[in-house]
Amino acid sequence: MLTAITREVSPAIVRCELSFIERQPIDLGRARQQHQAYEVLLAKLGARVISLPAEPDLPDSMFVEDPAIVLDELAVILPLGTESRRAEGASLAQELSKYRKLASIQLPGMLEGGDVLRIGRKLFAGLTKRSNAEAIRQLAELVKPHGYEVISVPVTGCLHLKSAVTCIAENTLLANRAWFDPAPFAGYDWIDVDPREPHAANAVALGGTIIFPASFPRTRGRIGSLDYLVTPLDISELQKAEAGLTCSSLIFEVNQDSR
Ligand code: GLY
Repeated sequence: MLTAITREVSPAIVRCELSFIERQPIDLGRARQQHQAYEVLLAKLGARVISLPAEPDLPDSMFVEDPAIVLDELAVILPLGTESRRAEGASLAQELSKYRKLASIQLPGMLEGGDVLRIGRKLFAGLTKRSNAEAIRQLAELVKPHGYEVISVPVTGCLHLKSAVTCIAENTLLANRAWFDPAPFAGYDWIDVDPREPHAANAVALGGTIIFPASFPRTRGRIGSLDYLVTPLDISELQKAEAGLTCSSLIFEVNQDSR
């Protein structure tokens, strides 16, 4: 069964970490409404949504993608690159342990799930301010026995690798190639974001549609014109917390023998 773990918006989100954007006031009520609409859409597209309770003292905890990577065979718990976020992993690990065997990366390795783009058996891992070579080395060791290859990708212009590139269809990447080294992705087809929408590369492909931020109409036009079905979603309040669409859920299959 397709499963999506999410977490309610923390009231502390107004104090979230920010790296590449300026702080603006966040309307908590609006942020919560937008996150609920995201959860409803995931459910409509076929996912069983498990919404974990808010963590009142952990501002960025709704971004459940960052403390863990969930693969078919195991979940890897990550030491986040921001100290203020490290406590997010514990309760998430407890939930994930119901569905997967757990492994973990150790400090001084630091890695955030937003930096790991899985395409089949390849894990592209961004080298960013949040994720380092030591963690990528440990990840490669952990997943090699399961047949995954880990490929480092230098990222310069944004928070995470997936802020700059996501896979929206078989062999097709949506990207802002100015923000990372595209060389490791040789052989994939590209859809480039509109230059006026540099943050528009983060989308979720699910249930035959591409969930896409409503705030990027020009890039949406580019995707739609290629005959993909696109479902726009307003996440404007969450974008003030440097959110993309991928970072608010962990989506994976749960089979009887998953654990
Ligand atoms: N506000 C998301 C992050 O910086 O991790």
